[in-house]
Amino acid sequence: MSKIILTGDRPTGRLHVGHYVGSLKRRVKLQNSGEFDSIYIMIADAQALTDNADNPEKVRQNIVEVALDYLGCGLDPAKSTLFIQSMVPQLTELSFYYMNLVTVSRLQRNPTVKAEIQMRNFEASIPVGFFTYPISQAADITAFKATTVPVGEDQMPMLEQTREIVHKFNSVYGETLVEPQILLPDNKACLRLPGTDGKAKMSKSLGNCIYLADTEEEVRKKIMSMFTDPNHIRVEDPGCVEGNPVFIYLDAFSRPEHFAEFLPEYAGLDELKEHYRRGGLGDVKVKKFLNNVMQSELAPIRERRKKWEKDIPAVYEILREGSQKAEAVAAQTLADVRSAMKINYFDDGALIKEQIEKYK
Ligand code: TRP
Repeated sequence: MSKIILTGDRPTGRLHVGHYVGSLKRRVKLQNSGEFDSIYIMIADAQALTDNADNPEKVRQNIVEVALDYLGCGLDPAKSTLFIQSMVPQLTELSFYYMNLVTVSRLQRNPTVKAEIQMRNFEASIPVGFFTYPISQAADITAFKATTVPVGEDQMPMLEQTREIVHKFNSVYGETLVEPQILLPDNKACLRLPGTDGKAKMSKSLGNCIYLADTEEEVRKKIMSMFTDPNHIRVEDPGCVEGNPVFIYLDAFSRPEHFAEFLPEYAGLDELKEHYRRGGLGDVKVKKFLNNVMQSELAPIRERRKKWEKDIPAVYEILREGSQKAEAVAAQTLADVRSAMKINYFDDGALIKEQIEKYK
């Protein structure tokens, strides 16, 4: 069986370092591993509209931002198909058929949707489109017969629901769809990177994100004013590493070679943590190290992004070509689905014969 990746992001803002360690970095690695037959990376504009119906301009503006972030990270259009969700209308039709296989109560139990409803204060005024987006996400994944979906931890319930839909579809209509596997980050700190203020969620409205497109100076300022252990007041005080964003970021970003380059007096992260716990290690020193580590990771991304920023028409051309390619693949799956569901009236010779017989 072919190994196929599908994943994507909502274009509601620029991508930040949480997206990077949670998924983007892994995608680039998988892309360059040569282990996959096809890779589809989708800008989920239709899904973004499910809770931004009144703000299409925001979604429209952020499509190119997300595409630039992708290209900056090293996603390569020669190896990965980058496309826009709404340009593949087959996804909408698949969603419509899958809706018959999912109950309202099952959607209500989806923990991610539940949390998002609370966060957005939707309560009694949940848009139907938003409520059903896990079904559309199942369409995104199955349209490409994806076997592997690299995403962050928050997407686990979506994958679970997709697998249920696949299972139900195949048992009702016959083996047609492929059951996907989720691929989570292997580093625990990368599962959910906190905001620079220590809050569990990075969000634009909280102003606690470091963006891939931030300048060197912006990144430095954000790191130097990061939240740390509030009880670690003087350098001599013992400090807490657990739940301390500076150390969580180091868990996510630092590698042994960073110590050799920027902080040779420590053998590695364990030794640095040990010193912090014991007392005698100031926040500023740790933050300066984190800044060096992150700048070295982000600089090449920023440079590559800048190059593409100078050639916006090429970026749109990549998305146009990718969307055409994606549409052709989704059309084939839709044909399989229609045939399995017996709604392929005009290319089913047996059906016409059957009707002729009936009226003989
Ligand atoms: N829900 C994802 C996000 O919030 C975006 C997305 C839409 C997606 N369809 C998908 C991710 C299919 C993986 C597979 O960013």
